[in-house]
Amino acid sequence: MLFMNKTLNKKMKILTYGCQMNVADSERMSRQLSTIGYEMIDEIEEADLILINTCCVRESAEDRVYGKIGEIKHLKRKNPKLIFGICGCMAQKEGDNLIKRAPHIDFVLGTGRVDQLIKIVQNLEEKNNSELGIRNLELRQLKNSAFRITHSEFIPIMYGCNNFCTYCIVPYVRGRERSRKPEEIINEIKSAVANGAVEITLLGQNVNSYGKDHKLANFAELLTAVDKIEGLKRLRFMTSHPKDLSDELIAAIRDGKNICEHIHLPVQYGSDRILQKMNRVYTVEKYRQLVKKIRDQIPNVSLTTDLIVGFPGETDEDFNETLDFLREIKFDAAYTFIYSKRSGTPAANFPDQVADDLKHKRLQKLMDVQNEISLEINQHLQDQIVEILVECASKNDENIFTGRTRTNKLVLFEHNDEKPGDFINVKINQPQTWILKGERY
Ligand code: SAH
Ligand code: SF4
Ligand code: F3S
Repeated sequence: MLFMNKTLNKKMKILTYGCQMNVADSERMSRQLSTIGYEMIDEIEEADLILINTCCVRESAEDRVYGKIGEIKHLKRKNPKLIFGICGCMAQKEGDNLIKRAPHIDFVLGTGRVDQLIKIVQNLEEKNNSELGIRNLELRQLKNSAFRITHSEFIPIMYGCNNFCTYCIVPYVRGRERSRKPEEIINEIKSAVANGAVEITLLGQNVNSYGKDHKLANFAELLTAVDKIEGLKRLRFMTSHPKDLSDELIAAIRDGKNICEHIHLPVQYGSDRILQKMNRVYTVEKYRQLVKKIRDQIPNVSLTTDLIVGFPGETDEDFNETLDFLREIKFDAAYTFIYSKRSGTPAANFPDQVADDLKHKRLQKLMDVQNEISLEINQHLQDQIVEILVECASKNDENIFTGRTRTNKLVLFEHNDEKPGDFINVKINQPQTWILKGERY
């Protein structure tokens, strides 16, 4: 029997690039594939099926994917029955051009067609006339095999984006906003929690416009309803667009039981002139007032942001305004990006594109300013005791484990018997810019 199972299981490897939406999609795809007998493995060399879930938000993301596609060529040569597919945002954007460029790709599946994954894979298995296809016939009874639920789950509440920031490719590769029904979301979360999830992150490109298309609930109402789910310990959400973060939402976070005090609120830039060219629809002053409101209502809140430097037409003056703005707002952390020209977006054709070396210089300056601020904020946590949700071993040292505070700060501590999903107290003894080091308390 054991032997049977061994031969029955087909092996898949899914490589995921890009945002949490892709992470959630990859989970969904792996669950689908598990119903036709695939199990997840670590070693890519042993895979019967490799999927790359791609991102195209910046050119660097695409370059990484092209590199990976190239690397897989030798695996396909070694094992011609290997099924190799590309999905995600680059698949949507490039379509079959990817196969023209790299003929060892078997299929390309855009973001709008994820539901067809199983059919495509089964067709390829049969076309290969490989043992994979034959094995398929015997697999019927394995259908709906239990899928893995982790202690922390990402749940998409809506897909797509309607905002068309002028630099951004996402609306073109993810389509218009579609909100899932509240009932469907709540049932999914209930079953995740029943299966052991203690932390849930609600996902959308702009969660604040949740429900605008079906009017069954707005985002604040959804968040409050999810917060009531028994057994859930931490509730997070991302991303919020500053243009429509409502007072009702701020109150919902303030009054919530398990809603974490962390808001990721991408500002993108700190000068009105550039914000307008980016089509962000708010001003620096409006953002400032929003932050004040949030901090007044939720005193321990941590605020993080995204910033883009080198947007077309950026002057020294714009840039200095942005530095001043950072010094004023004092974000807990900022993810900083160099503007990347995405063909098909309006900004790609804007005049006065900024030279590469200047972009890099500005990025460095921006990071220097922000790092100092992040460190200063984190230093306030010296010797404080914080509750963290244990995640996993750190990348570099398996004796060091990571966890997160409610404010979403990463904490490193020496591992004893803690397991992923445990809540423990840690005393912070070495706060740094991006991480906090501590010891079990
Ligand atoms: N919907 C989310 C996130 C979108 S993509 C939001 O609006 O906040 C994540 C981040 O990538 C963005 O916040 C932006 O800072 C960055 N980004 C998007 N397009 C980019 C581009 N063309 N060049 C550089 N950074 C970009
Ligand atoms: Fe892109 Fe703007 Fe939509 Fe975010 S809100 S996904 S930055 S277009
Ligand atoms: Fe990238 Fe697509 Fe997300 S372009 S950032 S993976 S929505």
